Amino acid sequence: MAEMDPVKLMKQEVGRAAAARVQSGTVVGLGTGSTTAFAIQFIGDRLASGELQDIKGVPTSFQASVLAKKYGIPLTTLDEVDTIHIAIDGADEVDPQFNLIKGGGAAHTREKIVDGLAEQFIVVVDSSKLVDVLGSTFPLPVEVLPMAIAPVTRALEALGGTVDLRMGVKKDGPVITDQGNMVLDVKFEAIADPASLETTINNIPGVLENGLFVSLATEVLVGEVKDGQATVRKL
Ligand code: 5RP
Repeated sequence: MAEMDPVKLMKQEVGRAAAARVQSGTVVGLGTGSTTAFAIQFIGDRLASGELQDIKGVPTSFQASVLAKKYGIPLTTLDEVDTIHIAIDGADEVDPQFNLIKGGGAAHTREKIVDGLAEQFIVVVDSSKLVDVLGSTFPLPVEVLPMAIAPVTRALEALGGTVDLRMGVKKDGPVITDQGNMVLDVKFEAIADPASLETTINNIPGVLENGLFVSLATEVLVGEVKDGQATVRKL
């Protein structure tokens, strides 16, 4: 049998570990991305086997809602529930204080709403996502109303960022978010004060939300592979 790509294996095992944390009778925030996709699949498997019962998912994106339907997870909305017991979501970078950069899938606005409401927010990443300082490897995604792209770009450049409008893959033109907006990817040298940058960027008129998640994660699970064996480490 062909060996699984190690990164995929890490994502699968960390997704499985997070799915095992979901308890019957709870409301679950369903994150976005390839790692969370495994968690959604394993939650569905646990429901199908009867090991898990009576859960409802709050999706953070169109992707999450499609996957939840595929794997038989009943969905609800924030109009219908007032508590999210646990949210499971990926990240593009995680610093030692559990601050995150998210938005690689352009879903960070809804993710911040759902993950931020959760009593427990479990981040699922492979080991490549761990950094000492946010901004080291990944640009910061910023969701912007289309009519404000030019002034917001100038404002982000004035903050020292190098700004790129995110373009579609297998689609000509820019990426359009689930809300009908666009995403600017902003490369900063290093983000020394994530809390202050998060607020500064969100105060620019035309910005809907940026991908800095500060003091929201309660736990980080990291998938690692050694000698072809996947392990999951809790930070
Ligand atoms: C989507 C996200 C994702 O959680 C993040 O990009 C990580 O994705 P993956 O698990 O595919 O590496 O923030 O907006």
